[in-house]
Amino acid sequence: MVLKKKIAIINTKGGVGKTIISINLAKAMHNYYEKVVLVDANILTPHVGAYLGKPITDNSLFRYVINTENIKNLVHVHKSGLHVLLNDLRARHDTYDEISYNLRTLHHVIDELEKLYDFIIFDTPPYISSNLIEVLKVVDEAIVVVNQDIASLAEGLRSVQLAKNYDVNVIGVILNKYGILNKKLEQDIANILAFLDLPVLAVVPYHNKIAQSIKKQQPFVSLHANKSFSKELLRLGHFLVKYNLKYS
Ligand SMILES: Nc1ncnc2c1ncn2[C@@H]1O[C@H](COP(=O)(O)OP(=O)(O)OP(=O)(O)O)[C@@H](O)[C@H]1O
Ligand SMILES: [Mg+2]
Repeated sequence: MVLKKKIAIINTKGGVGKTIISINLAKAMHNYYEKVVLVDANILTPHVGAYLGKPITDNSLFRYVINTENIKNLVHVHKSGLHVLLNDLRARHDTYDEISYNLRTLHHVIDELEKLYDFIIFDTPPYISSNLIEVLKVVDEAIVVVNQDIASLAEGLRSVQLAKNYDVNVIGVILNKYGILNKKLEQDIANILAFLDLPVLAVVPYHNKIAQSIKKQQPFVSLHANKSFSKELLRLGHFLVKYNLKYS
């Protein structure tokens, strides 16, 4: 038996690549192990569906009502093979109460998903919000995504501290969009990364074909497995699966 894991991809800074990393890491894990599901847990500004060609859906986490729906019917099987619980991109005019209700159902959704999957990867929203807190309450582990800029590292540090407040084990850092800054600044980044005091799980380069993979509605790792972006995430995906099988 495998050790089941719920892993959140976090940083309260917007735009660092949480969604791109979530999609590609989940798909990388899925290449090695079938029972993986990606949950778009960004309720108000969800982008997983937008990146995978299904921005509009009624089978969303937001619309989920535990008593009337079978979770199996809600999980979307993407053409890449990856299983995804999507969220709906349509503009919201729901009341705060409705959103709060939905957040409470997150626990039920996860209970149901755990019957079907061993690894649940959560894409999370930027900013500190009740949305992010509810996700942190249900996960076991988190990976913080940072870039080579001070703001993303500062928010990364804040996110790590927040996660720890909810007893989430932050297993490490992914340095994403690497290579767009000069060497001098990279030295400083190394110091600040050391300040985060977490293992660097992957260094994922900036790749100008990411936009093209979004246009093709596919994870980048499915299109270009031999690029260094993919090699890093395939290596990490393999490690996460193998590690949790080893200790089962
Ligand atoms: N390694 C990369 N190389 C090139 N572009 C990237 C890379 N990672 C992410 N991007 C691009 O950066 C932008 C932001 O990425 P993404 O939406 O994944 O960030 P995010 O952290 O999820 O943002 P938000 O906090 O708003 O949800 C997107 O246009 C995406 O295509
Ligand atoms: Mg996102």
